[in-house]
Parts: sequence; structure tokens; C-alpha cells
Amino acid sequence: MGIMADLDEETQAHSKRVQSLAVAIGERMGLTSAELKELNLGAYIHDIGKKFIPETILKKKAPLTPQEWEIIEMHPKRGYSLVEALGLSDAVKGIVLGHHLWADGQGGYPQELVGLKPSLLTQITTVADVFDAMISHRAYRQGLGIAAAMDHLKSNSGTRFNIEVVAVFEAEVYPSLRISG
Ligand SMILES: [Fe+2]
Ligand SMILES: [Fe+2]
Repeated sequence: MGIMADLDEETQAHSKRVQSLAVAIGERMGLTSAELKELNLGAYIHDIGKKFIPETILKKKAPLTPQEWEIIEMHPKRGYSLVEALGLSDAVKGIVLGHHLWADGQGGYPQELVGLKPSLLTQITTVADVFDAMISHRAYRQGLGIAAAMDHLKSNSGTRFNIEVVAVFEAEVYPSLRISG
């Protein structure tokens, strides 16, 4: 999709992996084909707002400063403005805006939206996103193994992450990842 073209390569690759993990979870949760279509697009473009973040920050090899984190944390709102201008659906916009919010409404960002409960499609994207981010190598750290990433999801299930989404991911999607390595 054209709007993804000016994202850095790593973010594009991450976006495709998150898309396929999210759709795999959604299929196992019995979402309708209309919901799966929204999830497919929303998960793919969830980080679209990163195109407004300088690559010097995205690719920095040292730990980020608080000011740099603030800039990173603007990506959901920047992405939301963009997809709103494109006239995309509320479901897709919600994924872009809310994918860093906690399932229980107790944390995450954008800070002014803490307290709102993200949609199920958003919560599915969050689980796929965090899992992929944890197993991926980044400029400043090695990726974790998939078992450690799974443990992280489970230990934050019911708070940051939706209980049912984590359970379906563990039972239905994670086993196939273990086989493919
Ligand atoms: Fe993000
Ligand atoms: Fe992401």
C-alpha cells in the first residue's frame, strides 16, 4: 500500500508480521469476515505514524532519552490524523490510535486516552505487536526468544493485554511459531 512506502524497512517488515499474527489470532477468535478485513488493514498500518519520526531516533543504537521517547510516543496520534484524512473506518482508526493503550485502561499512551477501553480489534493488534517487537532484534538490543515473549504476554494478561486474546494466541498461534522456529 502506497501510504506505507516511506516507512523505514524494519517498520515495514514489522508491520507485515504484525498483520499476519493479528489476522491469525482473529481467525481463531471467530471474527466475522468484515472484522477480519478491518483487522488486516489496521494491523498493517498500525505504526503508520512512525513516518513522522526521524530515522535518527528510530534507528538509534543507544538507549533513547526521555525527549526522544516523547517523540516516539506521538506516533499513534500522528498516524490517526493521517488515516482520518484518508477517510478510513473507525475500526481502523481505532487500531492506529489505540494500539499502545493497555487492555484494562490503566496505562499506555496516548496518555489522554488512558481510561478508555480499546476495541477488541485493537487489543488483538496490541498482542501481535508486542510479541513481534519482543522477538525482533533492534538497533539497541537483541530480540528475546519466543518463549520469553510468550511469558511476558501471560504475565501481563488481564492488565496490559486482553485475557482471551492472549489465551487464543498461546493455544492456537504460538504452537505453530514454535514449529517454524
Ligand atoms: Fe506502535
Ligand atoms: Fe508496532
